[in-house]
Amino acid sequence: MHSSLSLLAVACVASAATTYRVSIDTSKTFQTIDGFGFSEAFQRANQIINLKEPVRSQLVDLLFNKTSGVGFTILRNGIGSSPNSTNDWMNTIEPNAPATPDSTPTYNWDGDDSGQFWIAQQAANYGVKTFYADAWSAPGFMKNNSNDAGGGYLCGSPGAPACASGDWRKAYADYLTQYVEYYKSVNISITHLGFLNEPDLVTAYASMEMTGAMAADFIKILKPALEEKGFGDQVKIACCDATGWGTQRNMSRDILADKDAAPLVDVFTTHLYTSKIDSPLPSAGQHAWMSEYADLGGNWSTNWFSANASAHNDTKAMAGDGLTWARNIHTGLTTGNLSAFLWWVATQDTATNGNNNEKLVLVDDANNTYTVAKRLWAFAQFSRAARPGAVRVGVDVAPLTSACKPAKPDDTAAATASPLRTIGFLNANGDVSTVIINDSAEDVAVDVDTGAKNAVNAEVWVTDASRDLERLPSIITLEGRVDVQKVPAHGVLSVIVRAS
Ligand SMILES: *[C@@H]1O[C@H](CO)[C@@H](O)[C@H](O)[C@H]1NC(C)=O
Ligand SMILES: *[C@@H]1O[C@H](CO)[C@@H](O)[C@H](O)[C@H]1NC(C)=O
Ligand SMILES: *[C@@H]1O[C@H](CO)[C@@H](O)[C@H](O)[C@H]1NC(C)=O
Ligand SMILES: *[C@@H]1O[C@H](CO)[C@@H](O)[C@H](O)[C@H]1NC(C)=O
Ligand SMILES: *[C@@H]1O[C@H](CO)[C@@H](O)[C@H](O)[C@H]1NC(C)=O
Ligand SMILES: *[C@@H]1O[C@H](CO)[C@@H](O)[C@H](O)[C@H]1NC(C)=O
Ligand SMILES: *[C@@H]1O[C@H](CO)[C@@H](O)[C@H](O)[C@H]1NC(C)=O
Ligand SMILES: *[C@@H]1O[C@H](CO)[C@@H](O)[C@H](O)[C@H]1NC(C)=O
Ligand SMILES: *[C@@H]1O[C@H](CO)[C@@H](O)[C@H](O)[C@H]1NC(C)=O
Ligand SMILES: *[C@@H]1O[C@H](CO)[C@@H](O)[C@H](O)[C@H]1NC(C)=O
Ligand SMILES: *[C@@H]1O[C@H](CO)[C@@H](O)[C@H](O)[C@H]1NC(C)=O
Repeated sequence: MHSSLSLLAVACVASAATTYRVSIDTSKTFQTIDGFGFSEAFQRANQIINLKEPVRSQLVDLLFNKTSGVGFTILRNGIGSSPNSTNDWMNTIEPNAPATPDSTPTYNWDGDDSGQFWIAQQAANYGVKTFYADAWSAPGFMKNNSNDAGGGYLCGSPGAPACASGDWRKAYADYLTQYVEYYKSVNISITHLGFLNEPDLVTAYASMEMTGAMAADFIKILKPALEEKGFGDQVKIACCDATGWGTQRNMSRDILADKDAAPLVDVFTTHLYTSKIDSPLPSAGQHAWMSEYADLGGNWSTNWFSANASAHNDTKAMAGDGLTWARNIHTGLTTGNLSAFLWWVATQDTATNGNNNEKLVLVDDANNTYTVAKRLWAFAQFSRAARPGAVRVGVDVAPLTSACKPAKPDDTAAATASPLRTIGFLNANGDVSTVIINDSAEDVAVDVDTGAKNAVNAEVWVTDASRDLERLPSIITLEGRVDVQKVPAHGVLSVIVRAS
């Protein structure tokens, strides 16, 4: 461990343009990172499963391998609530209603879980340890609209009309616990459990409405149900996967207002479709996860940076760009205080949703091929640099008045004006890293001085229009200085200094 390790990125350019020194300050610590991930819910998992070897294994390796792929570290499963598994439906483990909420339920594990069990096994083989199981809805018979789709409330929820069939809250908690039990029986530890998905939206697929107060009520039933089956420590409760930051902020606020429920929630989860990150979510120590987001509006694009759209500030046309997602992740981890950032679905085919841009990888099972969007590499730049358990650390950016001569280190006004986006991490194993985004149109030369006399290795990775997480040659000197690199125009550079 190098508690006093500092990384200095010194920009040295011949031109008169302002250059910047980036200093990583490991003594200034922020949130702990849980990881980066995606879901393969809605039968998307089958698009990987249906590929033939060796292509299938190559795609799995691309997603999970931390030395040759992205190194994703979180998998979000959808807990099915539907009677069947066609299209976007996921079948439930409790297809038939018991006579009453108190009757013994009949559960059924099909060993497939809409393809998600296979993906989970692959992830586990690559060392993934964080599995977030999230229910979009309770089965229809537990709801006041008798359907797992089309919104409706969990019967028994305070403030919802009473259901003739009774109060199904405990039955729902037991049902969710049973899903964890099934995964345990096949050697996968579900670490995070959510009981809602976009509770502020009514949709034609699985959906269930809840207010923050209803969620707080249910959390107080779910926690003892988990404890009863011995999952009190293994499983963290996550809530509420609201459609946007604003609605999740309100749900988090309402849960925190319930002093009995608040300590039982470990993670506040949100999507960003209806509102974006402006400040941290309220928290009494809960981690914040951006648990689902994607470019739903664009056509399939593998672009890194759309220059013309950028020149016109056409944010819709840039919504799927790789560089846009590098910025989104950066904003989430800095402004949003996020501990995790999850894309929606990793894979999709051309036929689904008009071949839109909601996937990272376009899979063509018929031709046994896949195509990767540059967004995937934006995730890799972060996922390689910040492994689970990494702590985000301080970064100071100061301009150099002339090439390689630092200005006053406390020149914060000038630092604020820097066009560089930077972030730093101290990993649990002592590795220190920085991810640097250069938004502007020219390359910048960077000299990274780690100050790490005993660092063994420095890895420099770059993604831009022409490169996908390409390793740049680099030498770390005995003094801990990394040789001159370039943060390319509209590019992302990650420097990872290995402690051992
Ligand atoms: C599958 O379940 C959904 C949700 O209940 C239902 O709307 C749909 O008709 C079912 N599809 C088939 C093929 O049974
Ligand atoms: C990840 O990739 C590396 C390098 O290609 C390989 O040696 C390693 O076996 C892979 N890891 C797994 C778990 O397959
Ligand atoms: C379920 O409860 C909500 C909230 O009161 C209500 O708006 C809705 O009409 C109910 N649905 C049915 C089918 O009763
Ligand atoms: C789970 O682990 C046990 C004990 O190692 C083993 O016998 C069993 O086959 C494993 N099950 C699966 C589905 O991998
Ligand atoms: C959050 O709650 C406040 C006050 O209760 C309300 O004014 C605001 O509209 C809510 N925001 C969202 C996004 O629901
Ligand atoms: C950031 O999140 C952590 C939990 O990960 C929390 O303890 C801390 O208070 C949050 N910071 C801010 C400024 O909200
Ligand atoms: C997607 O492509 C279709 C057909 O080419 C076009 O009509 C539509 O405007 C495009 N959508 C976006 C968001 O670019
Ligand atoms: C450039 O972007 C603008 C605004 O999005 C658009 O109207 C124009 O057609 C684009 N030009 C080209 C050459 O794509
Ligand atoms: C670009 O557009 C976004 C939203 O569409 C807006 O918030 C931002 O201020 C615009 N930036 C410039 C430089 O016009
Ligand atoms: C993929 O397969 C389809 C038939 O399923 C064929 O029409 C198409 O040309 C193939 N595309 C490529 C790129 O091979
Ligand atoms: C990116 O490169 C250009 C050109 O060298 C420079 O003007 C700009 O400030 C750089 N951005 C950063 C973050 O240094």
